[in-house]
Amino acid sequence: MNLILLGAPGSGKGTQAKKIGVRYNIPQVSTGDILREAVSNKTALGLKAQEYMNTGLLVPDNVVIDIIKERIEKKDCGNGFILDGFPRTLSQAEELNKILELQRKKIEAVISFEVNDKILIKRLSGRRICRKCGRGYHVDFQPPKKDGICDVCQGELYQRQDDKEETIINRLKVYKEQTESLKDYYNNKKILKTVNGEADMDCIFTSLTGYLDEI
Ligand code: AP5
Ligand code: MG
Ligand code: ZN
Repeated sequence: MNLILLGAPGSGKGTQAKKIGVRYNIPQVSTGDILREAVSNKTALGLKAQEYMNTGLLVPDNVVIDIIKERIEKKDCGNGFILDGFPRTLSQAEELNKILELQRKKIEAVISFEVNDKILIKRLSGRRICRKCGRGYHVDFQPPKKDGICDVCQGELYQRQDDKEETIINRLKVYKEQTESLKDYYNNKKILKTVNGEADMDCIFTSLTGYLDEI
């Protein structure tokens, strides 16, 4: 099962991708996570991407397309994968088609998470992430048991560089201008499934599995 999770920053792509990954035993492929790791390791890729990410702009298409191409060729994607945050432009979507065609694969479903801007801003500004295991938290909506400490691995929680208010506004704008039209693109291909991303996390997951179990 090959899936795409589509939605604005903070709409819950990462949160649901992790749950879906565990349930169906397929990897979450997040271009954002791959890029952040490159930034923190100061690799050539990271140095190239950093400026764009910190201002909330998209990293150039050719850069992320190369990342995805390499990633989904890996063995662990053989039974399926969850693309979280890719594609984000029409040209990325078309390149993805070409890559999948060569690998004789196809996308079964594109899940679009609908959440209004006010909620998105609240979610992003309160988000915290574990430095050690990557688990996501929210200071109000999904607080850790102990302030600043991961429930699972006791790692330290941190706030993403691009989760500052000015950058958040920019990311939402970029989403509307460059990514949102992909909903029409996949709707025309009859593989778009829209979910109410404002619902409770567990409710969203239950409704998603109801749908994905049928695929
Ligand atoms: P990326 O890492 O993909 O960030 P994003 O798209 O901005 O999305 P987020 O990760 O912020 O949100 P999410 O939808 O995963 O929400 P989450 O589940 O964490 O990209 C970062 C940057 O990398 C981009 O700006 C760009 O520069 C670059 N990049 C990445 N991919 C690229 C590409 N393809 N092309 C070009 N550039 C690219 O949830 C958010 C918070 O809300 C959490 O705290 C969570 O606990 C909480 N929450 C989640 N669901 C709920 C719920 N149902 N109710 C209440 N709270 C909830
Ligand atoms: Mg994410
Ligand atoms: Zn942790």
